[in-house]
Amino acid sequence: MIRTVVIVGTLLLGVGVVAAQQDQVAKTQLAMKSNGKNLGAINVMAKGEKPYDQAAVDGALAGLQEVADRFATLFPESIKGLQPDGDYYASPKVWTERANFEAHSAGFAKAVVEAKGKIKNLATLKAEMPALIKVCSNCHETFRVKKG
Ligand code: HEC
Repeated sequence: MIRTVVIVGTLLLGVGVVAAQQDQVAKTQLAMKSNGKNLGAINVMAKGEKPYDQAAVDGALAGLQEVADRFATLFPESIKGLQPDGDYYASPKVWTERANFEAHSAGFAKAVVEAKGKIKNLATLKAEMPALIKVCSNCHETFRVKKG
């Protein structure tokens, strides 16, 4: 009887851990999608497809900073090897080359802070855009994998 309780308890614990891991994978993906949305919002202004809007720029940069500040914590060891639905997943290198990954995360946070200090109008937005895009693609090159 006691043994059954222990086994069932252990199984439930296992289910709980897997659910928590899937939950983290989904949360991480949501943060990545938010990066895409925020960068996209300022990129269309930089390209002249939408009028420059300082409040929207400030909002997008605040969103990027919010994700940048907790970037490394979005990839705990517990989600290594797990993949979200969608086209991309995190390379195992996120965990095996951790120092490099954290350096990229820190570089992202720094670039956002710098952009916040500089982007005051369309000209400065255009000037800052390449550096921002670069921190995203530099990390993706090594640490993001496309499915298929
Ligand atoms: C330090 C590394 C790093 C930086 C910096 C980074 N990303 Fe990512 N990004 C990843 C990894 C790893 C994944 C794959 C994991 C995932 O999708 O959950 C990813 C996934 C994505 C995805 C796909 C989400 C989906 O639909 O599955 C988008 C969009 C994205 N990133 C946009 C951006 C943008 C825009 C920036 C810059 C503003 C950025 N990322 C900066 C590492 C990074």
